[in-house]
Amino acid sequence: MYYITTAIDYTNGPPHIGHAYEKVLADVLARWHRMKGEEVYFLTGVDQHGQKVQQTAEKLGITPQEHVDNITARFLALWERLGISYDSWAATTDPRHKACVQKILTSLKDKGQLYKKSYRGFYSVRQEQFLTDKERDENGNFGPEWGEVVELEEENWYFRLADQAEWMKQFVEKSGSFVLPAFRKAEVLNAIERSFDADLCISRPKERLSWGIELPFDPDFVTYVWFDALINYVSFAGYLAEPGSGLPEFSKLWPADCEVIGKDILVPAHGVYWPAMLHAMGFSDEEMPTLLVHGWWNINGEKMSKSIGNVVDPNLLVEEFGPEPVRYYLVRDITTGKDANFDADRLVMLYNTELANDLGNLRNRSINMTRRYCESVLPAPGEYDDDASKALRATMDQAVVQFSRFMDENMVSDALAALNAQVSACNAYIEQQQPWQLAKDEASAPRLGCVLRHLLECCAQTGYLIGCVLPGASSRILEQLNADSLFQGLTPSVLSWGVLPAGHRINDPAPVFPRILSEEEKAKLAEKAAKAANKQG
Ligand code: ME8
Ligand code: MG
Repeated sequence: MYYITTAIDYTNGPPHIGHAYEKVLADVLARWHRMKGEEVYFLTGVDQHGQKVQQTAEKLGITPQEHVDNITARFLALWERLGISYDSWAATTDPRHKACVQKILTSLKDKGQLYKKSYRGFYSVRQEQFLTDKERDENGNFGPEWGEVVELEEENWYFRLADQAEWMKQFVEKSGSFVLPAFRKAEVLNAIERSFDADLCISRPKERLSWGIELPFDPDFVTYVWFDALINYVSFAGYLAEPGSGLPEFSKLWPADCEVIGKDILVPAHGVYWPAMLHAMGFSDEEMPTLLVHGWWNINGEKMSKSIGNVVDPNLLVEEFGPEPVRYYLVRDITTGKDANFDADRLVMLYNTELANDLGNLRNRSINMTRRYCESVLPAPGEYDDDASKALRATMDQAVVQFSRFMDENMVSDALAALNAQVSACNAYIEQQQPWQLAKDEASAPRLGCVLRHLLECCAQTGYLIGCVLPGASSRILEQLNADSLFQGLTPSVLSWGVLPAGHRINDPAPVFPRILSEEEKAKLAEKAAKAANKQG
């Protein structure tokens, strides 16, 4: 079973383009593994507790539950629009999750991993944590990233994080799959050095924060939001679930094959706290998840933030361009692990060139010519073959292998580039073979047949593979090629030349990637239409 999950999004504010990216990336990977014939469990959801939620709800004059319900609905609606194919929804107010968190807390306390003590120190309201001297900058101050910092004395419950230091160091050092891409490993090792001289405070007194999961052994406290949130990866995978809960069988899923998170929450949360928690709970080295750490979308080279006011609302993009162009852009114009600059002009440019022009034209021309010259029937392979056709078969096979390898490495943009290279090769082949010239001469019929067979087969294979990124476009392409059933039971690893059999009848073409017009182009078109109407009138 391939178990893929994402960070759960804070329900303090509405979804932004970073949230959309992470969900699309995970969705593309989930669809890829389904395409490979694997059983997939794709979990995503929302992080609903914590101080920020409580504060925002107070400001809005509604209950925290009402606030998170409102925001959760916006996430759900966006995932629906973007075609996010999750199998299960993790909401941290779900009673099944709360029960799991409480069982884990009880068990850790029974094992002596939790203790209560009084602490006086500086507390960041924004980050909901006590700060240590390590968090001070060169001038001895707490930087603006911590927001308002207040001095507090408080009794709380602590998790023996320091006990895990030795194990953590050796585990992270030797593990080849705990953090991907591999260049992030150093960050985790540095964080381990920094995080372990103090234990982790895992409670908040109710007088300060009531919106959380109550400690089962001390009802004056709720659970620290990160301790609660991280547990979603196991609670919704069925860990310690009651019979009849509707949750899956944990042993079939765990460890997670891919926890997709952004770089900002690698340390300390996912890289340090999470494995330490799991290890304290009794999980072995082999039972640690794999973290896939993606970079950030910036706006005009700047961090996206509410205070700058440059937050991109994915809903507006979907309204303007449709869901699939947005999906395509979000995984095409960024390298997994790296940052990228969001630019709607590049969205339009990449869509218009790679999809509308290249793939769209290839599909359109191939289907149209087969209809015109061969009554929509795929010609049988004859004697005719040439080097250009042989080369196209070879590069198609290579493209399948490259696409698969990149997808297995979570490098979606590179995988798409490999497909696009094959589409370009096909368009060059059309220009070189000039099928419209071949059609003029009866004697060229075998060669024309060869060309059309090659083009349709490449359309079918690329149209099939692109399905994990563009499920709608893929099914329209395969529908026009009447090839849906031919791919049933196939997987990319057994995909080889000749999926479309001789005599196969295709359907009529219809637009799949209508060009996105600029305002200028739209105006020109309107002008033309008006002129034409004038002439007629
Ligand atoms: O961190 N570009 O929630 P969150 C790309 N609730 N990704 C971005 C981004 C950007 N500009 N901004 C944010 C939380 N993200 C916690 C997670 S998991 C147990 C709890 C990513 O709503 C961010 O890195 O602030 C994170 O992976 C996800 O969006 C949710 O961020
Ligand atoms: Mg698995």
